[in-house]
Amino acid sequence: MIVGIPKEIKPQEGRVAQMPEQVKQLTDAGVKVLVETNAGILSGVTDEEYKAAGAEIMPDAASVYGGATLIVKVKEFLEAEYPLLREDHILFTNIHPAALPGQVDALLEKGLTAIAAEDCHEFGSPNCALAGEVGAFEGIRYCFAPHGGSGRHFYGHYGSQPIKAAVIGLGNVGRGALRVLLSLGIEVVGYDISDGIRYRTEQDWDHSNFSTAHIDDFNADMGDYDLIVNCVLWPKHRDDHLISRADLKRLKPTAVISDISCDPGGAVETCRATKWEDPTYREEGILHFCVDNIPGSVPVAASAGYSRALYIHIKSMIENGWKEACKKNAYLARGLVCAEGTLTHAETARVQGRDRVETEKFLNS
Ligand SMILES: NC(=O)c1ccc[n+]([C@@H]2O[C@H](COP(=O)([O-])OP(=O)(O)OC[C@H]3O[C@@H](n4cnc5c(N)ncnc54)[C@H](O)[C@@H]3O)[C@@H](O)[C@H]2O)c1
Repeated sequence: MIVGIPKEIKPQEGRVAQMPEQVKQLTDAGVKVLVETNAGILSGVTDEEYKAAGAEIMPDAASVYGGATLIVKVKEFLEAEYPLLREDHILFTNIHPAALPGQVDALLEKGLTAIAAEDCHEFGSPNCALAGEVGAFEGIRYCFAPHGGSGRHFYGHYGSQPIKAAVIGLGNVGRGALRVLLSLGIEVVGYDISDGIRYRTEQDWDHSNFSTAHIDDFNADMGDYDLIVNCVLWPKHRDDHLISRADLKRLKPTAVISDISCDPGGAVETCRATKWEDPTYREEGILHFCVDNIPGSVPVAASAGYSRALYIHIKSMIENGWKEACKKNAYLARGLVCAEGTLTHAETARVQGRDRVETEKFLNS
């Protein structure tokens, strides 16, 4: 199996799927690896470093897709990439299929195998923590007066009112957000639907500025905050919201929503995905930050974690073939989107009203 690593073409996306350290492990094991020229440049890696790791440098995306069968990437496929896809390709990248029906059509039409990397992490993607950290950091910045925020500081300087923040959802992303907010001394209330997760988070962050509450309390509290950081994994089929458009009128006029979850029409009704080049917009006067590839802003760090997290699955797919690899690892199997023109991904089938074959049944057929 030849591994292909294309350069990401999504705007402001500097991550690369495999760093030289992991490429070297592959090539040492006799695997051929094709890397598109400059694929790692924004992650601080040159073509020469990939060459030293044993990879072949290809001049363009077409030669990577044309020469490889296992394509390892970071982001979903953009339309410009669809013509490069082939039936015998195995695609391993963050696909977000439930949110991107056009992409699912393209993958099914090709009859190829696609595995969503975002579903394959046993302990959550290392990039999720980074998204929480950077998303909280950006939210804090927008609290400053030149951006129309409350003009409050991190802590009660000379007795002044400090920034008060809410983090909704205390999973991988939420914990990243807490790390940044609490390290600056900001007063935070963390909300979650799970009392178990609240309990664990309180144990981990035993901090005088931090408390937790059940999400049912958030509706009454939302008007208290200068900054609301949304980190909930919102089920795609839900059509209610934690913050509706009408609720925006109940927030402080200077409040900032950093919607890291970034589910359009999800927990935050007025969320729409933005890009780094134009990261914010206002709805009902409230500033929303909703960048959908936050870790792409810190590619040097993000690629290091992502590359390690994907490597074990890449190695297993090479050693066992993708089907056996899925049978051996439930997390990899969870990410199977489609193969041979058959959809297996449960959430995508539910959200898009498509037929599917259960993954286990498909793998054992
Ligand atoms: N914008 C970006 O660049 C970016 C990057 C990474 C992840 N994300 C998104 O961030 C989101 C969170 O990811 P994660 O890995 O932290 O998920 P996770 O499953 O680890 O955490 C989600 C948390 O939300 C809680 N929760 C679920 N439903 C809730 C509800 N109704 N009310 C309150 N809490 C609720 C869960 O108990 C859990 O603690 C996902 O939607 C993911 O796609 C975005």
